[in-house]
Amino acid sequence: MTFSYEIIEVGNPLLYQVAEEVTDFSCAELKKHISAMHRLMQERNGVGIAAPQVGVSLQVMIVASRPNERYPNAPEMEPTVLINPKIESVSDRQVVDWEGCLSVPGIRGRVRRADEVTVVYFDEAGEQIRKMLKGFPARIFLHEYDHLIGKTFLDQVASSADLFSEKEYLRAIGAN
Ligand code: NI
Repeated sequence: MTFSYEIIEVGNPLLYQVAEEVTDFSCAELKKHISAMHRLMQERNGVGIAAPQVGVSLQVMIVASRPNERYPNAPEMEPTVLINPKIESVSDRQVVDWEGCLSVPGIRGRVRRADEVTVVYFDEAGEQIRKMLKGFPARIFLHEYDHLIGKTFLDQVASSADLFSEKEYLRAIGAN
């Protein structure tokens, strides 16, 4: 069966489902899903992506912070695939910062999240890894993790006053 991957957007029921755990790490379909996620994330200048966003209800995400036109101040990191991720702990310290989402076009939001998160996940080879993420990569992880439990950043804003159109977002950050 050929599956045509595309970024799905808010309103699509797949974004509101809890994604299933990956059980077969050697499955050829899984590799195809991950390469489609890499491709769509890069094409759309994303810094992270979750499998449900490409229509695949599996617990897979990519965290790939890098500076680009959507996130000019993002730190550079090696793109990391996280499978069946679990949150082990989060810092008490929280920070409010801007988020956007390929599945929520034209909208930015101010979202409060933990500044540090320790996560346990499996890599593509099925090896279990524990990692501490801090700052923007921690924010990306928590944003993508929400996609795996049927949420988006729209569920995390304190009020609708924290949601901005792209135009008002650029005005708010002083970009034009
Ligand atoms: Ni998103």
